[in-house]
Amino acid sequence: MEVWIKDVSNWFITYCNSFKNLSEEQKRNFEIKKAHSLRVANLSMYLADKLDFNIDEKKLAFFIGVFHDIGRFKQVVEFNTFDDSKSVDHAKYSIQVITEEKIFENIGIEGKDLALEAIFYHNKFKLHENLSEQELKFAKLIRDADKIDILKVLTDYYSSRDSTPNHTLTWELPQGMSVSTAVAKEVLEGKLVSKKDVASVIDVKIMQMSWVYDFNYRLSFEYVLKKRFLEIIYETLPKNDLVIEIHRKIKVYSENKIYGKYKSG
Ligand SMILES: [Fe+2]
Repeated sequence: MEVWIKDVSNWFITYCNSFKNLSEEQKRNFEIKKAHSLRVANLSMYLADKLDFNIDEKKLAFFIGVFHDIGRFKQVVEFNTFDDSKSVDHAKYSIQVITEEKIFENIGIEGKDLALEAIFYHNKFKLHENLSEQELKFAKLIRDADKIDILKVLTDYYSSRDSTPNHTLTWELPQGMSVSTAVAKEVLEGKLVSKKDVASVIDVKIMQMSWVYDFNYRLSFEYVLKKRFLEIIYETLPKNDLVIEIHRKIKVYSENKIYGKYKSG
């Protein structure tokens, strides 16, 4: 297994290094996505192991983690942005790269359809109801692992005092004074905040907190609570009644998912 993991990781790194003549900014963006992909792969493997996936399923979980964002590299070279709305759906691009580069054939792993389905859905607002149980298993895992890693990156950034502003994390939005009405409404109704309603950095943070509504596995809630990701985001927000109410709602929801009578996993 370890040799296989090393081979897959090396294949991925070789692909990333095959792009030449990158600007300094593109190089930085490449490093960010490279590190993110490898962390998501390891996290997927960790979760899959805890969830008692069998060995082939664990490999597939790792594979999906490594390659879910592989289209990001082509995206940033061709369009100079990670903004899908200004370029391409990066999940579709990932599928295209996996097919063009014959990654499955090169790596020798079963489960291509399951993996491509999971990758396609990793960045969609919601999962499709028509997916099979086996498809859902992997699609849910990558969605959780991807969000957990983004929360990790954000909270590392929020916690480090001397970090320079990173606009890829805040989409160059104004700081803002309070939570937008539409964003507050969604989050208090127990819904994921949709990107189109986000108007400030404060809204971005609320949206990130709302991701817990989309977690699929109880293990993911446990992980996020243990790492205190929600508290760290909350601590960076202005403390007014609305923000306090939103934080409380998200916290109670997460704790219920862990300790309440919800389906396990
Ligand atoms: Fe992605």
